[in-house]
Amino acid sequence: MRVYGFLSVLMTLLLGSSNGQTPRQQNNTGFRCTGTRRCEAYAYYTASSPDFLDLASIGDLFEVSRLMISSPSNISNPSTALVPKQPLLVPLTCSCNRVNATFGSLSYANISYNIKPNDTFFVVSTFKFNNLTTYPSVEVVNPTLVATNLSIGQTTIFPVFCKCPNTTNFNYFISYVVQPSDNVSSIASTFGSDQQSIIDVNGDTLHDYDTIFVPVTRLPALSQAAGASPTAPGPTAENRTVSSGDDRTGTVRGLGIGLGVVGLLLILVSVLWVYREVVMKEKLGPGVVRDDEEEQRKVYFGGKEEKVDVKLMANVSDCLDKYRVFGVEELVEATDGFDQSCLVQGSVYRGEIDGEVFAIKKMKWNAYEELKILQKVNHGNLVKLEGFCIDPEEANCYLVYEYVENGSLYSWLHEDKNEKLNWKKRLRVAIDIANGLQYIHEHTRPRVVHKDIKSSNILLDSNMRAKIANFGLAKSGMNAITMHIVGTQGYIAPEYLADGVVSTKMDVFSFGVVLLELISGKEAIDEEGNLLWASAIKTFEVDNEPEKSSRLKEWLDKNFLRETFSTESLMGVLNVAIACLHRDPSKRPSIMDIVYALSKSEDMGFDISDEGIGSPRVVAR
Ligand SMILES: *[C@@H]1O[C@H](CO)[C@@H](O)[C@H](O)[C@H]1NC(C)=O
Ligand SMILES: *[C@@H]1O[C@H](CO)[C@@H](O)[C@H](O)[C@H]1NC(C)=O
Ligand SMILES: *[C@@H]1O[C@H](CO)[C@@H](O)[C@H](O)[C@H]1NC(C)=O
Ligand SMILES: *[C@@H]1O[C@H](CO)[C@@H](O)[C@H](O)[C@H]1NC(C)=O
Repeated sequence: MRVYGFLSVLMTLLLGSSNGQTPRQQNNTGFRCTGTRRCEAYAYYTASSPDFLDLASIGDLFEVSRLMISSPSNISNPSTALVPKQPLLVPLTCSCNRVNATFGSLSYANISYNIKPNDTFFVVSTFKFNNLTTYPSVEVVNPTLVATNLSIGQTTIFPVFCKCPNTTNFNYFISYVVQPSDNVSSIASTFGSDQQSIIDVNGDTLHDYDTIFVPVTRLPALSQAAGASPTAPGPTAENRTVSSGDDRTGTVRGLGIGLGVVGLLLILVSVLWVYREVVMKEKLGPGVVRDDEEEQRKVYFGGKEEKVDVKLMANVSDCLDKYRVFGVEELVEATDGFDQSCLVQGSVYRGEIDGEVFAIKKMKWNAYEELKILQKVNHGNLVKLEGFCIDPEEANCYLVYEYVENGSLYSWLHEDKNEKLNWKKRLRVAIDIANGLQYIHEHTRPRVVHKDIKSSNILLDSNMRAKIANFGLAKSGMNAITMHIVGTQGYIAPEYLADGVVSTKMDVFSFGVVLLELISGKEAIDEEGNLLWASAIKTFEVDNEPEKSSRLKEWLDKNFLRETFSTESLMGVLNVAIACLHRDPSKRPSIMDIVYALSKSEDMGFDISDEGIGSPRVVAR
């Protein structure tokens, strides 16, 4: 294998960079880039003994929290110990950094590291960062440090290699260090990527311990079976070079057709949009201030045609690539012509296409925002978009989602069902929602605020695991002010109602209301219009713990009375809920604190009631 590696290096040197593919790391000093783009990327990192067998130390190394590693890595409890070689996905903020005249700009995540005894650039890059960077590149980005004369505690930048996708075909590049047992096909299958894309990005020869970038549209689901071996044992070295160019013509033809379709859609969409804008403008009249983004869009779509093309092209082609495009007839047939019998709720219909069941949401042309957001998110606790359909004749747009069998949390809590959810299931649901929220609040760039978290937008699958649905009101970007209040009475955060302040903390507030519903079985707003959250705050405004506990017993869902469960767990969740409802958004816990606190409550032995949820102590790190 070593000989082979050497030979292939030699071949590359002799033949030049084969096929004109992207060059590998130049002289080990990193990957060149142009521009100033930043993006979210991930590094595939494996735990190793003795220092990196827990998420806290790995998080410290990469300057991220434990939860930021555990959630993309399919690890439910961030405090579990890891086994050597356990695979992890570590988030990186990847950027293109100007280095100097010789090296130009290099693409890496800028990680600060304080030198410890016995560290050298080589040791830290090779055994701590597991070859995700190299010592020559550490030297390049730290021009003032002398590698042979490091002092303990010295802050050093370790440039962890990463790359931003330059096409919209992929959402992330995962930095991966090639292992001797790998070949392109084993890597493709580990990450759910395809061989040709990996070759396109990295060239067609892999070198042991080089960092490559695996292009993916969604993060792979890592299997975390205890003691799992992270990389499939690969076949022999002989087939490590994969011939490229086998299916080029097909790709080109596909691209041609794709572009044709994009062109058509583009025209349709532009026409629809202009139409919609005209109608809206008439409806609203002059002087009505609308959402800032909406405003922007008006500019884009109203006059400047070239801008429209570029923006739309990017958006729609992105969707075409990832989603199935359904025909109107297909959807009409699937739903018996959108018959009442297929109606699930609101404008969502159940439809069966080729034996597969989907939820089909019929909307006027306002699906754009939801489409734009959904294409950026992908998480087990968010309802997945499968495809869409545009019907130019009726000016309708349809979004086609995965069908979630068990309906809404609202129906389970407030409608007559033979079966009631027990406390354990409810707590699980709460954690699922929190995980979904954590993903949109912390792992999407820009962040997404759902804006309409409520029990009827939470769906339960066949295992009673929860998924957040309905991103129709969601907004990306933070701390915007909007004049166009949307949302649902009983769940809306007071600051949003008063000033239109949009932030992730408004979702935290609404989540607090859902927690109250889970605990009490009461609706967010009753027939007389009394708000559940207001009554909860009044009820639990006592410092005296025994009194609080007895009021909780009064207040909780009577369906629990027959169950045995720990009051601490219940009290813990109530405290989380009350903390979420704080009037001052900045005093509400972050979703990360919430995930952590709820996980602790799930572990019934713990009592978090007297620690204070919003205190910095529960920030997971
Ligand atoms: C990093 O690469 C070197 C060879 O360059 C190898 O000896 C070492 O084991 C690799 N480190 C890890 C953690 O795989
Ligand atoms: C090593 O670094 C220390 C302090 O950073 C400095 O005083 C000393 O002169 C350096 N030695 C050499 C050989 O560069
Ligand atoms: C993306 O990068 C690849 C190689 O790095 C290059 O061949 C391709 O032209 C680039 N595409 C765009 C759209 O810039
Ligand atoms: C997550 O890990 C568990 C084992 O802990 C595994 O059974 C499950 O399949 C993994 N999830 C996914 C989506 O792969």
